[in-house]
Amino acid sequence: MYVILLGLPGAGKGTQAALLKNETGLAHVTTGELFRENIRLGTALGKKAQPFVESGRLVPDEITIGMLLDRISQPDCARGCMLDGFPRNLEQARALDEALAGDGKRIDRAIYISVATGKLVRRLSGRWSCPNCGAVYNEISLPPKTPGVCDNCGFQLEQRKDDRPDAVRTRLEVNLKNLEPLLDYYRAQGKLCEAPGEGDVEDVTRAVRACLEGEH
Ligand code: AP5
Ligand code: MG
Ligand code: ZN
Repeated sequence: MYVILLGLPGAGKGTQAALLKNETGLAHVTTGELFRENIRLGTALGKKAQPFVESGRLVPDEITIGMLLDRISQPDCARGCMLDGFPRNLEQARALDEALAGDGKRIDRAIYISVATGKLVRRLSGRWSCPNCGAVYNEISLPPKTPGVCDNCGFQLEQRKDDRPDAVRTRLEVNLKNLEPLLDYYRAQGKLCEAPGEGDVEDVTRAVRACLEGEH
């Protein structure tokens, strides 16, 4: 099963994909995390992506599409995966459909985690992430047991560079512009399901699960 999670920055895509990974057995593929890992490691791809990621702009398609298609050709995605952060525009959506079709596969469902823009800024300014295991916390809604320390692995938590107010503004603008066309694209294919994303994390998980199980 190939599933896409759509949603504005801070909607909870990463949180939900991580929670549903065990239950569904679907690998969690996140382009944002792939870029951040390449930036940390100082790879050529990371150097190209860094100015875009840190300022909140989209990384150009010629870099992003190749990276994503390479990632989903890995063995852990052979029977499907959950895509978090890709596609972000129609060019990416079409490239993904074409590549999957070439392998006799297709996207089964696009799940839109909907949250009003006003709530997102607060969520993002309170987010802390673990650079080691990728766990995501929130000062207000999901605090770690010890402030600043990862519950899973004990690493020091960090705030993302693109969670600074100016980068958050850019991310929201860019994503708001691209969201509607993507929703229309998957709606027209009969694949779109909306999961209301403003409740507790557990409520949102239930809504996403209902979409996965086919309730529109
Ligand atoms: P990416 O890392 O994907 O960032 P994003 O889309 O801005 O999304 P976020 O990761 O910020 O939000 P999320 O929905 O995962 O929320 P989370 O679960 O963490 O991309 C980063 C950058 O990479 C892009 O800006 C771009 O430069 C580049 N990029 C990536 N993909 C690209 C592509 N396809 N094309 C081109 N460029 C690309 O939750 C947020 C916070 O809220 C957390 O603190 C969490 O604990 C909390 N929270 C979650 N759920 C709830 C809840 N129900 N109630 C209360 N709090 C909650
Ligand atoms: Mg994320
Ligand atoms: Zn950790």
